[in-house]
Amino acid sequence: MTENSTAQVQDQPVWSRLDFGDNFDWGVATAAYQIEGAHDIADKGASIWDVFTNKKGKVKQNHHGQIACDFFNRYPDDLMLMRELAIPNFRFSLSWSRLIPNGTGKISQHGIDYYNRLIDHCLELGITPWVTLYHWDLPQELEKRGGWPNRDIVSWFSEYAALCANSFGDRVNHWMVLNEPMVFTGAGYFLGVHAPGRRGFGSFIPAVHHTALCQAEGGRILKSILPHAEVGTTISCSHVEPLQQCDKDIKAAHRVDALLNRLFLEPALGLGYPLDDLKFMRRIEKYIKPDDEALLPFDFDFIGIQNYTREVVKYSFWTPFLQANLVPAKKRNVPYTLMNWEVYPEGIYHLLHKFSRYKNIRKLIITENGAAFPDELKDGQVNDQERLNYLQRYLQQVLRAKQEGANVQGYFVWSFLDNFEWAEGYDPRFGLVHVDYETQQRTIKESGLWYRDFLMCRSK
Ligand code: BGC
Repeated sequence: MTENSTAQVQDQPVWSRLDFGDNFDWGVATAAYQIEGAHDIADKGASIWDVFTNKKGKVKQNHHGQIACDFFNRYPDDLMLMRELAIPNFRFSLSWSRLIPNGTGKISQHGIDYYNRLIDHCLELGITPWVTLYHWDLPQELEKRGGWPNRDIVSWFSEYAALCANSFGDRVNHWMVLNEPMVFTGAGYFLGVHAPGRRGFGSFIPAVHHTALCQAEGGRILKSILPHAEVGTTISCSHVEPLQQCDKDIKAAHRVDALLNRLFLEPALGLGYPLDDLKFMRRIEKYIKPDDEALLPFDFDFIGIQNYTREVVKYSFWTPFLQANLVPAKKRNVPYTLMNWEVYPEGIYHLLHKFSRYKNIRKLIITENGAAFPDELKDGQVNDQERLNYLQRYLQQVLRAKQEGANVQGYFVWSFLDNFEWAEGYDPRFGLVHVDYETQQRTIKESGLWYRDFLMCRSK
């Protein structure tokens, strides 16, 4: 933990779960590759993360998700723990290569059986499953055939979406098509810091367009097979501010906002790509076919917003294309987490208002919010006061926005368990539940106990 990330211990909040109303969905979120393990069990195919983590130096300390939290085997106990914590909704993702080992074609009955067991078990315990189709683990066989930059991904993804809807839709009513498209295209195909580790515009730009097409197509497929299901998709977003109130910084912040917050949302809403604000993205037009304009929008039942921090932006002549730099929290003398992300609760308040201003968003659900701090397991306890404060302070801002009219109707903590944090490996811990990766022992943290009490609150 960092010196600057001072824990602002606060008084017990004067608000409770009841202030959010009865129609507010509370839960926790996870993702397949980050928790499941069982990476090569039965006929499971490899995903791009299996391959990426095998390459030396890609992930801190060469960590990988081969075992992770062993959730594949331990889900019955973990779901019991979830019930103990009174958590009513569980967001998890399906592993495409567990269900269709090569990404297209032959289906794995072993994979289908696993998710059937998991879903049935949730329902038996009174936990509602919220399923994400794609949380970054593309089947490696599809990457070999070009991955997201290959337009064939639209038909591969459609086949996968239909399989999921047909296999699990009789019991799953809440679906999310994609997890944070900006992150997996940006980090995976432009910066090369996430799987599959590709770099540059040549991969990124077509990946963006095909991802945006899949986002809408996935929605259409789920809805056509499951007309009564609630179908959403999720977007990573950060409140963006200029470092100084000068023209150059303000314009730079505007560009960063378009890239981080609007690039995938606006095409889904029928507004097209924000190319006026992102001139360097104009080369995307090369990949847009005549009928695509009609294919990009989809009327989602909800938009999942995932927020952790804010970004402060400074104009930079030297940064190609965007001509903007993010000013790190460390340089701004503000509190920050183990991910070096600023703790800025008001950010979620501004975002909820910002997204509420879009006319055709039906409702907002916060499908991820949480923080990594240097937890210590001592005498069978984890006293993670900083995480607890973080969650309370962000929730307070969610409530404030809601009371002012923002149409937010749910909140999911990232994450239920400590897990594999992508390029950062296992060091940053985000869980409400501590995981000892040697023994797979689970310990509920103070934040988890607080969330339980908060969720169990029945009267003021
Ligand atoms: C992702 C998660 C990730 C979390 C913390 C989100 O971007 O959806 O998979 O672990 O943030 O970095």
